Amino acid sequence: MLKSRYLVQPEDFSIEEIDNIIDIAHDIIEYPGKYAHALDGKVLATLFFEPSTRTRLSFEAAMNRLGGRVIGFSDSKSSSTSKGESLEDTMRIVSGYADIIASRHPVAGAGQRAADAALVPFINAGDGKNQHPTQTLTDLITIKHYKGRLDNLTIGLCGDLKYGRTVHSLAKAMDRYENVKFIFISPEGLMMPEETKRELKPGCFEETSNLKESLPKLDILYMTRLQEERFEYKSKYERLKDVYILDKKKLENAKEDTIVLHPLPRVNEISTDVDDDPRTVYFEQAKLGMYVRMALILEMLGVEISR
Ligand code: NCD
Repeated sequence: MLKSRYLVQPEDFSIEEIDNIIDIAHDIIEYPGKYAHALDGKVLATLFFEPSTRTRLSFEAAMNRLGGRVIGFSDSKSSSTSKGESLEDTMRIVSGYADIIASRHPVAGAGQRAADAALVPFINAGDGKNQHPTQTLTDLITIKHYKGRLDNLTIGLCGDLKYGRTVHSLAKAMDRYENVKFIFISPEGLMMPEETKRELKPGCFEETSNLKESLPKLDILYMTRLQEERFEYKSKYERLKDVYILDKKKLENAKEDTIVLHPLPRVNEISTDVDDDPRTVYFEQAKLGMYVRMALILEMLGVEISR
């Protein structure tokens, strides 16, 4: 049974709770039939105030595959937010209709506000540049799946480390495992925020702008897109947008067993010519995200299926 009623950031769950969710997800992959009616009669609300493909659809697919049903919206213009309703009021209302809520919002900090207002279990599906804990669960299950462990790893986080919420959540989550080293690879204007770095173990990271030189040291390369929608100036985005492009030639510098992850969507930062390299696993990663969300919903609703 999880201690927290909500998941706003990875620290809301203990490492043991996260490891258990990953184990349940692997059991679901192996025995999907056992789980097909686990949530018959339950309702998930997906309230997306900001665009999404993977996160929303994988939540909805997850709930459907557990026998549950889904209500919600994918555009705040079609909700009462456009009439001026507060986030808190929306959460209270939807708590009367659904057994669990997953919500995404463009404002950093909206995840905690929504969690505090909701009267049912609440999942932050991304709040502005702040956190994206279910992407982190997706990343962790992918790493476990391909590397067999979550400790003793060197992980390069590359791209927009300033505005990218996935890297903020992932760094905080991975830092809790033993002997994890980070290489933060970004252009100068898009470095990992001080507040995130302050929360990590001392000496666990280095910073560089050079992807090519970092590649041979990495067990995992985590690429990200520049978060165009969060840039203050279009000119800065235009100047930096193609600063990292992982292609066949560059990937030659990586180890044989390095894996390449990306939360997706990609723009230009990974060339399609590496998609068939066995080290690139971002499409598999997106699929694993659905299974880990199935496990998360089960746990948050306190439904246990014997393994
Ligand atoms: C990420 C997000 O929304 O932060 N996408 C996702 O959920 N897979 C990454 C991104 O949009 O760049």
